[in-house]
Formats: sequence, structure tokens, C-alpha cells
Amino acid sequence: PYPVFAELRRNAPVSQVDPGGLWAVTRYADAAAVLKNPQLFASEGFRQAYRPAWFSDYPMADSMLVMDPPHHTRLRALVNRAFGPPVLTRLEPRIRQFVEQLAAGLPTGRSVDFAEEWSVRIPLIVMADLLGLSPEVHPRLKRWADTFGSFTGIGPNDTERQEHMRATVAEARQHFQQVLEERRREPRDDLMSDLLRARVDGEALTDAELMGFMFLLVVAGMETTVHLMNHSAIRFRDEPELMGRLRADHSLIPRFVEEILRYEPPVHGIFRVTTQETELGGVRLPKGARMLVVLCSANRDEAQFPGADRFNLDRPGPQNLPFGHGIHFCLGAQLARLEARLGTEALVTRFSRLSPGEGPVRWNTSLVVRGPLSLPLVAHP
Ligand code: HEM
Repeated sequence: PYPVFAELRRNAPVSQVDPGGLWAVTRYADAAAVLKNPQLFASEGFRQAYRPAWFSDYPMADSMLVMDPPHHTRLRALVNRAFGPPVLTRLEPRIRQFVEQLAAGLPTGRSVDFAEEWSVRIPLIVMADLLGLSPEVHPRLKRWADTFGSFTGIGPNDTERQEHMRATVAEARQHFQQVLEERRREPRDDLMSDLLRARVDGEALTDAELMGFMFLLVVAGMETTVHLMNHSAIRFRDEPELMGRLRADHSLIPRFVEEILRYEPPVHGIFRVTTQETELGGVRLPKGARMLVVLCSANRDEAQFPGADRFNLDRPGPQNLPFGHGIHFCLGAQLARLEARLGTEALVTRFSRLSPGEGPVRWNTSLVVRGPLSLPLVAHP
């Protein structure tokens, strides 16, 4: 379980992975300190990663993820107006009905790819609903999420992938624009209409900010939640008595979800850049140092979580850091928790255990959002 990070936490908790490269922050306390201080450890420095020479108007560059105050403060306040508790209240009955149907349709006694047939389906439906996309667009949404997720990995000379990216972005942009126009003409009881209505000091979101937010939702809210579902299913496979325990007492499920988020946080690392020379954990950092706050390490820090490498349902919590901290704290944290709770309820109600299926588990190669691409499991009634 992450031996390299354990070694770094012990001997080099703030260290440069290679000369001129990223600085890895591996202890819980240092990770929290970085995220708490956006003046010193800024997000804006990564904006140019979304503005490469081959794509000058990629909408993610206009998203709050890569902004600092005061721009971030304004955008976040506007979005918070629309993305509040009513989003959850509106979605909860729909998600519950959907996951119950989905679980009921999963075959038992033979190998099924849970990544494909279970984990992806739930965030996909939720995201389509948030973005106001009609059902025939759902299959494209998965493709968009996969494509946008690979944006920063495309090299300056990789013209084939650049072309594919531009075409996919254009396709998504056209659909998003259509939704916004429809809601402008005829508002509904949904997130997009609320976003169009949102005002702070009389000001609304600009068109570019709305578009940036729609792209950010796809990038930030899909694959992350998929892997929360995947990691939950893997835990059921590896600890066969767990499902029975949760089935007998549903009130344990929120703690199960919190401990999964600590034990296998879907987002492994968050990026920041220092705005001036500073010190962290006794190490001097130059101005412009590119930092990687390693959440999967912080969440296994013994100083914060005794017996950190053990999955422990009885751990008091949550003090985990799966959704970041401070001003960029995940906007969708409560929604992701809701999806995981309802999904887990449906699974433990329907099945007694999950055992390994046919073939290997294939993992993605991302260091940022990590999880399996395929997850063969057998469900038992
Ligand atoms: C930000 C994790 C699900 C929307 C973040 C950040 C993390 C994170 C670590 C902070 C990034 C930073 O500080 O730079 C996760 C995980 C999820 C999840 C682990 C699922 C288990 C979602 C969902 C949505 C969402 C479902 C929306 C529907 C966002 C947005 C931000 C964000 C909009 C940017 C907030 C800001 O910059 O102020 N998320 N997320 N996330 N997340 Fe999530």
C-alpha cells in the first residue's frame, strides 16, 4: 500500500521528485497547510496547461479550478447560488430509483465488468441530469469525459490527438450551447436554469464562465465518482464479510463511504504553484515551485490516522482529505457522497457478496485520478 509515499513521509516529506520537477507534499499536516493558503500556493499557475499553443480557447481555462481570488471568489459565489442543497434534494429520489433498477439488472453467478455495468452508469446519469442533456446524448458524455480527461497529456506535436480533442470539444460545446439557449428561452427546475439566474452584486455568470463550468463538471465530477464506486466494489471483493455487516446496519454506510474515500481517494494529487519564496515542513521553496499535494499519501499518514494502512469501519471521522480543502474544496463532495451511499445501499440490499470474476483488473495509467478501467466481479444473491 503505497510504500514509496510511506518512505517519503518518513524521510523527505516535502521533496522534489526530479531536478526542476514537481515538489511532492506527502504528509497530512503539510498537505492541509498548502491547501489552506491560496495566497502562497496558487492554482492560477496551472491555467496555461489548459491554454496550449495548439488550443487557445479550451473552455477549462475559464473554470474556477485554475483561478485564484478574487476571480475564484466571484465565480465560486455565483455557482454556489445554484449548486446548493436543492440539487441533492432534487436528485436523491431519481438516483435511488436508478441504482435500484441498475442493481436489479446485474446478473448473478457469472462474471460481470462492474466498472462498465455499474460504476460508470451512476455518475453518467447524474451528470447528464446536471448538464440538462437529453437521454440520446448520454453515450457521448462518457466519451467526452474520457477525452477531456486526457487533455494535459497531449504533446505539442501530437497532431492526431489534438485534432480529435478539438473535434470532441466542438461537439460538446455545441450541445452545451443548445442547452443554455433552451433554458434561457424556457427556464426549468434544474441546475442550468439556476446558473443562468444566479446573481452576486447584480452580476451574472458570463457565457465563457458558464461554458467553462460545464466543461469543469464533466472533468471533475465523472471519473472521480466512477472510481469511488469502483473502489467500494473492490473492498467488497476483498473483505467478504463487509456486505453482510452493512446490509444488517445501513447506518454504517456513510462511514463506509468516508473510509473508502480515505483509503483509496480517487483524486491522488492536487497541483499548486508558489507565488513567492516560502518554507514548508522545514524545506525552502523557490517562487514558482510547482507542487503536487499527494492526497493518497496524506490520507495514509500515521500521524493523522493510526493504523492508516488498515481499512477500518470503526475509525472516527471524517478528517480525511479526498475532496481537497479550503477555497477549492470540491463543489460536488455531498453529491458524490450521496451517489456512493445510495449505490452502496442498493448493492448490499441485493447481493450478499462480490467475488473475483474472470480475467484481470485493468488499471488506468493516470497519476491524478486513479482507478480500474475494467473490474470483473461475480455478484452473489
Ligand atoms: C474540486 C475531488 C466529485 C465538482 C475538487 C477537488 C478535489 C475533488 C480534490 C479540489 C481541487 C483543487 O483543490 O485544486 C473529487 C472527488 C470526487 C469529486 C474525489 C468523487 C468522489 C465531484 C462531483 C462534482 C465535482 C460529483 C460535480 C458534480 C468539483 C468542482 C471543483 C472540484 C466544480 C472545483 C472547485 C473550485 O475550484 O472551487 N474535487 N470530486 N466533484 N470538484 Fe470534485
